[in-house]
Amino acid sequence: MNTKDEVLMISKKNPLNGKINIPAAKNACLPIICASVLLDGKTVLRDVPKIVDIKELLAILKDIGANITHRKNGTLTIDSSGIKSGHVLNDSARKIRSSIFLLSPLLSRFGEVSLPLPGGCSIGKRPIDFHVEILKKMGAVVTVTDRRVGAASPCSPGSHSDATPTTIELPFASVGATINAITLAAKSLGKTTIKNCAKEPEIEDVADFLNKAGAKILGAGTDTIMVNGVDKLNGITYSPIKDRIVAGTYLIAGAMADGSVQTVGVPKTHLEPLLTLLEDLGCEVKPHNNIITIERTKPLTAKNISISTAPFPGFPTDLQAQTVALLSISSGTSTISENLFEARFKYVPELRKMGAKIELQENKAIITGVKKLTPTSVVAEDLRGGASLVLAALTTSGITIIRDIHHIDRGYYKIEEELNKLGTSIKRVKV
Ligand code: UD1
Repeated sequence: MNTKDEVLMISKKNPLNGKINIPAAKNACLPIICASVLLDGKTVLRDVPKIVDIKELLAILKDIGANITHRKNGTLTIDSSGIKSGHVLNDSARKIRSSIFLLSPLLSRFGEVSLPLPGGCSIGKRPIDFHVEILKKMGAVVTVTDRRVGAASPCSPGSHSDATPTTIELPFASVGATINAITLAAKSLGKTTIKNCAKEPEIEDVADFLNKAGAKILGAGTDTIMVNGVDKLNGITYSPIKDRIVAGTYLIAGAMADGSVQTVGVPKTHLEPLLTLLEDLGCEVKPHNNIITIERTKPLTAKNISISTAPFPGFPTDLQAQTVALLSISSGTSTISENLFEARFKYVPELRKMGAKIELQENKAIITGVKKLTPTSVVAEDLRGGASLVLAALTTSGITIIRDIHHIDRGYYKIEEELNKLGTSIKRVKV
């Protein structure tokens, strides 16, 4: 799918009303798809969205020999028995960050792995040094050049560490590094303890997936994870958790464009800091099981709002841009500090073109709410920044055109169709 020549035309303001069924989480599906390489037999995953990041990862797996079907209803079947080596040549691996999740599963299965280096990306440098240190600590010999990362285990495939217990202490609670540590330890000999782990729900989900397949992983979702290596993992059918960032984006849409929006599939525990903010701004938020309803009944008012992005359970960096769009139309002055990625304010000049008042001071945005934003032509610079422009456009009267929407398609499947179900009028147009 090439969406490079498509734009979104958002043409009028409507109150939004209705319900959105949230698909499986991109950040759970991507590592689980990579971990499926460790399973004997087929992996079947339910409700996997056909977003660009997942399509590109599947293309890499197909390229190295996996047999894959991805049905219209989201059911994804992966048979990785045809993969014969851990060498990935496909250049797409350089484009998507998540190819790094193949590092441990391929090393574990084949005793060696070689991947194009996932380069820096539009939100920052995104180094892989934590991943490299984990592999070394587990006994692998790792080589990194300016284009590729390779690792080899001195032991036989599937048993690259010896049976002595290994303890890994992560220098920072990195999501990706925690996942690579778990997936490498899952079939390694002996016991691995991983300290200072990231606690994101997606990490628990990867562990649940592997445990269902026969792994012995304890403590996922806390800062210490213990893994007792097993010899074999079996093919399974699994439903990954739903996407808290997509749900958060649509809840913010409900707050910004009036009306009542319901997201189905994500529990409140996955979105606590955002829901607190929405209430502080004056919205009514009603969570019930996995359904969250937001209603905006009065003007948005920001009093003493100061947010800092942080690893889970802190405020998610992946909702930072959408939140800045929300605060742009909330009366009062707010601040939001970005602590995870150094280049995550690229969308700010685009929001300014729409009339937002945002000052940047190093990693902090200072937002002074305006009464209304104005429609214009803007460019999506990255995935979440692109989503923030869609949200801003929903509040304007007139036509907003958003270019480079391929960034948005990386994480939202047909965002215009989902929002149109709620009453907006958004068209995807070829230019
Ligand atoms: C994952 C998510 C991404 C989210 C991020 C933070 C996926 C596919 N992506 O990315 O959507 O924004 O978590 O919640 O799950 N770092 C290093 N060296 C490393 C690895 C990371 O310095 O080897 C730094 C990063 O630059 C960043 C911080 O650690 O400053 C956290 O990054 P990390 O949690 O690893 O993010 P990702 O796993 O890449």
